Amino acid sequence: MIETEKLQRVAQVGAEQRCVDPACGARFELNERLYVCPNCGGLLDVVLEAYAGADPEELRTVWTSRLASFDPRDRSGVWRYRELLPFAPDAPTVTLAEGNTPLYDAPVSAAYCGLNALKLKHQGCNPTGSFKDTGMTTAVTQALILGARTVVCASTGNTAASLAAYAARAELQCAILVPRGQISHAKLAQSLDYGAAVLELDGNFDDAMRVIRELAEDESIYLVNSINPFRIEGQKTVAAELLHQRAWRVPDHVVVPGGNLGNSSALGKGFKELKNLGLIDRLPQLTVVQAEGAAPFASLFGSDSEVLKPVENPQTLATAIKIGAPVSWQKALRAVLESGGSVLSVSEQEIADAKAIIGRDGVGCEPASATTVAGIKRLVASGTIGADTDVVAVLTGHILKDTDYAINYHQEKLFTHDRSADKTKLERRLAGTYRNPPARVQATRAAILEGLRRHEQEHLGEA
Ligand code: F0G
Repeated sequence: MIETEKLQRVAQVGAEQRCVDPACGARFELNERLYVCPNCGGLLDVVLEAYAGADPEELRTVWTSRLASFDPRDRSGVWRYRELLPFAPDAPTVTLAEGNTPLYDAPVSAAYCGLNALKLKHQGCNPTGSFKDTGMTTAVTQALILGARTVVCASTGNTAASLAAYAARAELQCAILVPRGQISHAKLAQSLDYGAAVLELDGNFDDAMRVIRELAEDESIYLVNSINPFRIEGQKTVAAELLHQRAWRVPDHVVVPGGNLGNSSALGKGFKELKNLGLIDRLPQLTVVQAEGAAPFASLFGSDSEVLKPVENPQTLATAIKIGAPVSWQKALRAVLESGGSVLSVSEQEIADAKAIIGRDGVGCEPASATTVAGIKRLVASGTIGADTDVVAVLTGHILKDTDYAINYHQEKLFTHDRSADKTKLERRLAGTYRNPPARVQATRAAILEGLRRHEQEHLGEA
């Protein structure tokens, strides 16, 4: 394990939980089991006072030297940056070697967006296939520290799969609440295999979120949705890993999908703390992209209102972000505004086409992640982003999380809105603009060569 004595001291200096509402600002010890401020109900931030003492050069050197270490904490792309985390050196780290995700060049997606270059930070390459693992390693570690017996979450699928895996590692009981029939099979399969109690609710994600907050009043139960500030702590380290991979060159824009808005909050916090530490000298503009039918944050950003108005019955085929009442909107808004970023929404067709284009870069993501490339294309088209701008899109989940969506797109069987019982109402077929359906051929050399020739013809001049 690579530390210097000075950094170890820095890591142990004070940290606390603090209410994000400036009018309240109440402060609490790290080991208090809280999710929101008991005084005013506001969200909580973990605040580390340690930063003033840290030397940016020394941090850079230590973090780089850890890349060559085999210690489990150094192998983790989260715990490698542990000076940024509110844990003592002897914390019972629950890790699956999360993080360490690739930063890809994506020339096909760049051309599609009208950019000279585009980078994709693929958080779907985490152990359970989504960015959630980077926050789950710290939240489940905190659960052990607090002596919880059961960890719970409400989820559109990925948080559930991730929590189930980390709970299994920590030998904790795990219960997950998911909206019945509204999460992908792959995510459900993961949670079952990892041994979680999977509770399927009649209702949507927002209903599950409401119920789970009542459940968490029980002392032995620890809630690890992104309302939990220790989740955000792990997730924020993505900012450090991304910048580390770029030799600390700050991109102009970082673009993320928005659902419950934990990820955008975490990235914003991460970049800001790195700036406060002197590791970077400016913030990238943080842009959040939502699906049109589940876009309360985009509506808020485009209005004069100061309060988010939930969407009653959110709709999108990107089920991961089918959320109408995002819990962390205040934190996310703060992050977007401080960075000079923006929030927008994109249509189902734009998401589907962007996902197929990302695929042509040899990179597979789930639908929610493709909102980023769809959003960037819009921002370039409107002149908000110039062609030579340095942009990073964060892909949040792996393509294998939702293979039905991909197969249906390529066969032009992708319908917006949930099908009604009589399979007629409210359906609209999305165009398979970049479709690549399988072709049936006879088992002869000639037929196969003819199939190849036809495939080439059909895709001539495409991205
Ligand atoms: N992308 C994917 C693949 C997700 O699973 C989620 C959220 C998001 C984006 C949005 O991130 O909520 O931090 O704004 N999934 C949650 C879940 C809600 O339960 O798995 P966010």
